[in-house]
Amino acid sequence: MKAPIRIAITGAGGQISYSLLFRIANGDMLKHEQPIILQLLDIPQAQQALRGIAMELEDCVFPLLQQVVITDDPRVAFRDAEIVLLVGARPRSKGMERKDLIEINAGIFAEHGKILNACAAPYVKVLVVGNPANTNALIVIHNAPDLNPKNVSSMMRLDHNRAIAQVSRKLSQPIGSIKKMVIWGNHSGTQYPDLSHAEIRERKILDILQDHTWIESEFIPTVQKRGTVVIEARGLSSAASAANAAIGHMHDWILGSHHDDWVTMSVLSDGSYDIPAGVVYGFPVTCHNGDYQIVQNLPISELGRQHMLENYRELLKESEQIKHLLG
Ligand code: NAD
Ligand code: LMR
Repeated sequence: MKAPIRIAITGAGGQISYSLLFRIANGDMLKHEQPIILQLLDIPQAQQALRGIAMELEDCVFPLLQQVVITDDPRVAFRDAEIVLLVGARPRSKGMERKDLIEINAGIFAEHGKILNACAAPYVKVLVVGNPANTNALIVIHNAPDLNPKNVSSMMRLDHNRAIAQVSRKLSQPIGSIKKMVIWGNHSGTQYPDLSHAEIRERKILDILQDHTWIESEFIPTVQKRGTVVIEARGLSSAASAANAAIGHMHDWILGSHHDDWVTMSVLSDGSYDIPAGVVYGFPVTCHNGDYQIVQNLPISELGRQHMLENYRELLKESEQIKHLLG
């Protein structure tokens, strides 16, 4: 039997976590021979709910789940954690943009970054889910100077999955046949879902798709606005699909992405595609041996370039707003 991996999850009493925890405990993220210990953090007012969740986890008799720790102290939750999912943050409600959450949530990520730096395993891998996710990840990177910035990423996998779903429906093709999707930029309404590299059975989707006007008139805005439309329909932000995306993101990062595909991760920019260093930006990546590499040398159209720069400028503006937390 392998040694257990300690996985810390913040916002463990919230909506996303109610889908996430049970799937992780079932082995969906790290697969089926890896025992785990869950270290669950939420605020003091949520501790009673956390006790109920811990009871339910126990009652599921998951063979891989060795222990559940519940706490309101991030030092306890992050102690020796090798994987951390930072979900704990306020979600937006109807009429808000994700960036309206900056003032409310940024302080959480500065505090959690510092405590991760002090308490987590030095090689911990951190996924930021709480919004605005890209800028919150930047805050974590700056507040955890001893961690490798390559070990902190934020989630754009939900946008990536949403884009695949739209193409699958439009072309009546199976989900698994759609490869090489990309979402560039920010997890916001500005994000750039880019179909120009995507393939179905090694044929470019642009060669299969007859109606190219669909891309700008429907595909891009549908993916950009999907989070808003889910909030309007449910009265709450997406939860099960967000949990599913977090599991896919961590699975591929740790165990490797598919050999003939790539995935979207928001990572610290390194100058690739002329996006200046220093923002957390969605790029196509491949993952091997627990590391990601940005896919290089993709041709970018003039329109694509404009979308990409718009995202960069938006992220720069967000980072200006929280520059006091960047140290
Ligand atoms: P929720 O309100 O149901 O749950 C959030 C939980 O975080 C609550 O239990 C709350 O008590 C807890 N929390 C608040 N402050 C905390 C702190 N300092 N430490 C620990 N826990 C804390 O919200 P949700 O629907 O689970 O969404 C969580 C976040 O994820 C939101 O910011 C939402 O916008 C974001 N989100 C991101 C994506 C993405 O694709 N990146 C997708 C969906 C949701
Ligand atoms: C989403 O994309 O569904 C989440 O980021 C929640 C939101 O605020 O849209």
